[in-house]
Amino acid sequence: MKLIIATIVVTVSTVAGFHHAFVPTAATSSTTSTSLRALYGEPRPVQIIPSVLPADFGKLGADCAALEAAGCDRIQFDVMDGNFVPNLTFGPDTIKWCRGYTGLPFETQLMVSEKCTDAMLPQFTECTKGPNGEPGVVIVHVEACTHLHRALSNIRAQGGSPSVALNPHTPAEMIENVLDLVDHVLVMTVNPGFGGQAYIPTMTEKIRKIRKWVVDRNLDIDIEVDGGIKATKETIGACAEAGANCFIAGSGLFAYEDMAQGVKELTAMAKEGQGLKA
Ligand code: DX5
Repeated sequence: MKLIIATIVVTVSTVAGFHHAFVPTAATSSTTSTSLRALYGEPRPVQIIPSVLPADFGKLGADCAALEAAGCDRIQFDVMDGNFVPNLTFGPDTIKWCRGYTGLPFETQLMVSEKCTDAMLPQFTECTKGPNGEPGVVIVHVEACTHLHRALSNIRAQGGSPSVALNPHTPAEMIENVLDLVDHVLVMTVNPGFGGQAYIPTMTEKIRKIRKWVVDRNLDIDIEVDGGIKATKETIGACAEAGANCFIAGSGLFAYEDMAQGVKELTAMAKEGQGLKA
């Protein structure tokens, strides 16, 4: 009798194990990718966006020109004030100087205190603009803005493209009521402040949730991820499958001797995650 029960238990768990193994991902079966398309919409164009944090700050302009030559889509400037994050980088003047070296679009991630955001938002919006005054992406953190709705509206009014960022612990619901104001949402996949950290896998479901909101409400919003992004299935692949299309890469790109090869490999893995041919 005991033997029979044991056999039944083993059989049940084996079948359960197999069932999980058979849940298909978007890249593996067209029918499933069709139903995922219905749920999560057509994938948006992949953009590879280097963070300049690993760059040589002594020749930041020249490094920006090298990133353009490597085929990057935009350049991210990590502004850190030693308050919001335990690190310090640069201000609007440095970003303005880099404009003279490249025509690529810029984005500025403001990892700064509320006081700094309130006092300097116009300068950051201005220095992020394109060579002909095109709107640059200005990212404020929900955790640093008591008056987030006002800050995002101000960026738009100052001629910028508003974006909102969430730290890993912050629930997606914190930005749900400002989705109508932004062109991008940035899901931090590491705790901000430093490059070279490991991707936090629990962020994938947050990306998927925000993507569903965007599709269900027919919003024209890019989902960006930042932190630990490499040309791997577990990082850029998983984020792309979950609905992200803009990928910040710092150490993951600067590690390449030939950064153009890095951009190619990151793009290919992202497209695979989206269920698209590279
Ligand atoms: C961290 C910055 C990231 C960082 C990414 O606070 O916002 O942009 O530079 O670096 P990697 O890709 O090395 O994690």
